[in-house]
Amino acid sequence: MSVWALLVAAGAGERLGADRPKAFANLGGRPLLAESIERLDRSDWIDAIVVAAPPGWEEPVILLAEELIASKVVAAVPGGSTRAESVQAALAEVPADAVVVLVHDAARPLLDDAVIERVLGPLTEGADGVVPVLGVSDTIKRVRDGVVEATVDRGELVAAQTPQAFPADTLRRALAGDLEGATDCASLVERAGGRVRVVEGDPRLLKVTTRADLELVESWL
Ligand code: CTP
Ligand code: MG
Repeated sequence: MSVWALLVAAGAGERLGADRPKAFANLGGRPLLAESIERLDRSDWIDAIVVAAPPGWEEPVILLAEELIASKVVAAVPGGSTRAESVQAALAEVPADAVVVLVHDAARPLLDDAVIERVLGPLTEGADGVVPVLGVSDTIKRVRDGVVEATVDRGELVAAQTPQAFPADTLRRALAGDLEGATDCASLVERAGGRVRVVEGDPRLLKVTTRADLELVESWL
């Protein structure tokens, strides 16, 4: 079984507000991206890695991979203007004989091998996609124009993380359709009628969005 990892790192990082794309923001003295490249490369579950780089940053990504001796990184391609388009660009590098594709946000540096193992498991039982999730502990309300419309039953709600795993052909079909409004890959597979399973996520897979997130993740390194 060949498992390809797509590492999407092409975002600008506007909310972080650094002087460079978020993937190259400093995390413990290295570019943020280094953490997930290294962890994917070290994982026995992963055979090859494609990085969607911020446009113009493909070469720095390759140099970083060389520096990390991350020999599974086979390509760095320029990402698109949305996350889904960046996934599409990276997926174009995956050969036809790939069996499974795992998609991970570079913005979630603290990738644990146990999570990779958990998301791959249900694929052998026929799942069309697998998503790591966390339950929500706050009370969740739907609000319009500053007024609460409803308090939503949080027992049914989870927060979705990455890495998300898919049979390669299922992901290819999902990404060939309308990408409008998709903030993760699983939602495209769901839209196409696929059955997406959930597994336990990891609080340390926090997505770095703001400066405070970066500092928190740095303290966990
Ligand atoms: N991403 C991407 N291509 C895009 C947009 C996002 O590859 N056009 C990636 C980001 O690099 C990140 C992940 O998708 O690893 C999640 O996106 P997000 O956290 O929103 O990152 P940014 O878009 O960079 O941040 P912001 O929205 O604050 O600009
Ligand atoms: Mg974004």
